[in-house]
Amino acid sequence: MSETAAAERPAASLSPEAGRTHGLPVAVLAELTHRCPLQCPYCSNPLELDRPKDELSTAEWQRVLGEMADLGVLQVHFSGGEPVVRRDLGDLVRRASEVGLYSNLITSAVGLTRDRVFALADAGLAHVQISFQASDAALANRIGGYRHGHAQKHLAAGWVREAGLALTVNAVMHRQNLHELPQIVDMAVTLGAQRLEVANVQYYGWALKNRAALMPTRAQVAECDRVVEEARERFRGVLTIDYVTPDYYADRPKTCMGGWGRQVFNISPSGKVLPCHAAETITGLHFDSVRDHSLGWIWEHSPALNRYRGTDWMPAPCRSCAHKDEDFGGCRCQAFALTGDAAATDPACALSPRHAAIFRTAEVEAETGTTRFIYRNPTGGTAEA
Ligand code: SF4
Ligand code: FES
Repeated sequence: MSETAAAERPAASLSPEAGRTHGLPVAVLAELTHRCPLQCPYCSNPLELDRPKDELSTAEWQRVLGEMADLGVLQVHFSGGEPVVRRDLGDLVRRASEVGLYSNLITSAVGLTRDRVFALADAGLAHVQISFQASDAALANRIGGYRHGHAQKHLAAGWVREAGLALTVNAVMHRQNLHELPQIVDMAVTLGAQRLEVANVQYYGWALKNRAALMPTRAQVAECDRVVEEARERFRGVLTIDYVTPDYYADRPKTCMGGWGRQVFNISPSGKVLPCHAAETITGLHFDSVRDHSLGWIWEHSPALNRYRGTDWMPAPCRSCAHKDEDFGGCRCQAFALTGDAAATDPACALSPRHAAIFRTAEVEAETGTTRFIYRNPTGGTAEA
């Protein structure tokens, strides 16, 4: 533990005002590593991946898990990259249980074994979310850039259920797999999942680099809305389906992360505390590290977390909009990616002066864009052969 962190540790030092001004965090996405056997072209990790030698150690994560509990966090989501590549994952899950955190594993499932799943369950893991790239094996393996991944995911999903753990299927959807959505719904039910996330691609980082290959057509989005509605009815009480309309075709922006620095935050493999997975794409913000400060201090004092908290920072039209306390102006990372100004109104909003332009961009790219991916890797990406 660093000297600074030790000195600042008691989160009870959080002032009562903290809860009134920006609330206390409910959940943390702990990105244990950026290493991953897959190479998905829409990966939410930054283009510049953290190196293994910079990752927080087991002891550092164990200390930080304690600080999460002190801060009032209820859930920790172990993620990556692929968190299973960390040999100490079981130790971290056990530590999370000891300090009273509900723990979820967000995984590609590649690298999981039956023994490992049961060991994680013994350590206190409560829930597993497995990502699927498609329902057809050849398509899934092509999208993930990993030859036998799809079959391994099916095996792992079976072990998760056998171990008595709750299972969510996460399916990232885009132009090249949306035609499979009905089969993906059926697959989730067959695997025994309680929840299916129909996660339309969000265009930052790697996905922005691959936007032309991923952007759905307007007709696909309309069909997706219909399939989800029908499936929700058909599998009521069996499968919960999470779904939001893709940003570029929406009229209102999503309430990204429940509001900047409001309910949840991420910790990067090297220990930076981020308001969301894509925040490092916004230039000019400095993100404090758990190596230099306690989580309690960062949550209350980090200039980056405070920068877009609440509604006071908003320009027009958000400032006087009736929806500003519902969506908090949408997504700062998307605003920055599309306008160069993180304080701009999210162009997904119909009230943004740039809304019509992004809608046109989506339609043109969906009709004429390439189908070849740039695969995610530590060398900056490799074009599909
Ligand atoms: Fe939300 Fe701003 Fe659009 Fe209003 S103007 S709906 S607050 S993004
Ligand atoms: Fe960063 Fe939306 S992803 S605010």
